[in-house]
Amino acid sequence: MQKISRILVLHGPNLNLLGKREPETYGLTTLEKINENLATRAAKHNLTLECFQSNCEGELITKAQSALNNYDFIIINPAGLTHTSVALRDAILASGKPCIEVHLSNIYKREEFRHFSFFSDIAIGVISGFGEHSYYFALEYIVNSLKFTKE
Ligand code: DQA
Repeated sequence: MQKISRILVLHGPNLNLLGKREPETYGLTTLEKINENLATRAAKHNLTLECFQSNCEGELITKAQSALNNYDFIIINPAGLTHTSVALRDAILASGKPCIEVHLSNIYKREEFRHFSFFSDIAIGVISGFGEHSYYFALEYIVNSLKFTKE
């Protein structure tokens, strides 16, 4: 029987404010709605998906570490920690799980300090600039890659 793949979605600091926070940059959709849309899509493909948001770096690190035994893929929007956190990067590496980095905004179109990411070189790929769809594209990639490995 095909093993059910488990996906962990990590949302970094301030993403709890989506919908209210700089809507011209991040859109009007709330994090709750994005999580709900991801869960619906995952369920359609028989995948389990858990979403976790924290404003605390340490909590995100602990959750990323838990992927070692509990998840098969990580989708991460490290938010501001994208540009600063060696420790969260190390936790993703320690989990040994393939990860996809996502951003709502196109970080390369913005201030220069956002152009560098501590995650891009350890991710399968980076999806940046498609608003909430960045998350859905990441999930779609996982769904497709699983189909491919079944064949
Ligand atoms: C972000 C981009 C980051 O530079 C910023 O600090 C965020 C959100 C995005 O999704 O576009 O908080 O990761």
